[in-house]
Amino acid sequence: MAIQRVGIIGSGIMGSGIAEVAARTGHEVVLRSRKRESADDMVAKLAKSLGKQVEKGRLDEAERDAVLGRVTATDDLGALAGCDLVIESVVEDLEVKKALFAELDGIVGADAILATNTSTLPVVEMAVATGRPDKVCGVHFFNPAPAMSLVELVRPLTASDETMATVRAFAETCGKKPVEVQDRAGFIVNALLFPYLNNAVRLLENGTASRDDIDEAMKGGCNFPMGPFALLDLVGLDTSLAILDALYEEFRDPNYAAVPLLRRMVSAGRLGRKSGSGFHDYSR
Ligand SMILES: NC(=O)c1ccc[n+]([C@@H]2O[C@H](COP(=O)([O-])OP(=O)(O)OC[C@H]3O[C@@H](n4cnc5c(N)ncnc54)[C@H](O)[C@@H]3O)[C@@H](O)[C@H]2O)c1
Repeated sequence: MAIQRVGIIGSGIMGSGIAEVAARTGHEVVLRSRKRESADDMVAKLAKSLGKQVEKGRLDEAERDAVLGRVTATDDLGALAGCDLVIESVVEDLEVKKALFAELDGIVGADAILATNTSTLPVVEMAVATGRPDKVCGVHFFNPAPAMSLVELVRPLTASDETMATVRAFAETCGKKPVEVQDRAGFIVNALLFPYLNNAVRLLENGTASRDDIDEAMKGGCNFPMGPFALLDLVGLDTSLAILDALYEEFRDPNYAAVPLLRRMVSAGRLGRKSGSGFHDYSR
């Protein structure tokens, strides 16, 4: 089955990015947010982002209009009924995601695939919350989704080969390079990345070096495009903490035990770019 109509749930950083990718690569997109204003706001941001591409000469006006014409915003989960694939990208909370999958199962058609963009949570738990565990998997985009080429396709024990082949074809149609990974917390990238990010916070907390020197060291010494604190702010400190907690819960490896400073920053509401401040300040 080729995916034509894609439902995206969640109007945060990732939901918006995935919606842009899917619409730009010719898919019909239904964007669902709990609040109608948030869904409309996502479309307005997409229009703005496409407008910038037109100004830079990377897109013509007819293409921009065609992309926007393929996107529908809604606050009604029922509007996802005709989708071939639904990708949820709501808050990293297993109970919220399981309840959403159970509800979606009663809405979409019998052949539809339900996917999660979770960074770490057990996909199998979402699969068994539905009556179609063979048609549930992870389709994990990276941030920012329009710019990052990787998609991790996460295979829970329950997924069929056909489901995995269909989402692979979808990711390729989106212009991405998919890799397949078993359903283990953190998959490939976050299992390797988060001990590094967590240990960067530890170096800051124990006074080994300053924030800027740690960021500078990893850019200049490892040729990384940004330092760990800039990356944590981009990911979101709440999402980063949820990822570390899920990794620790699964493996009990001390490298995954979130450093207290990170937890305190989240309690203080310093979530990174999305809240205007995190390890760096974005208010100006
Ligand atoms: N931020 C990243 O770099 C990144 C990268 C890849 C995957 N992810 C994953 O994508 C998902 C979303 O992350 P994000 O960074 O876009 O988060 P975000 O905080 O930007 O957005 C979260 C969205 O979830 C919605 N939401 C919150 N509580 C909800 C509830 N109880 N029911 C329904 N919706 C609810 C919010 O309204 C918002 O639209 C998470 O599973 C995360 O692990 C994040």
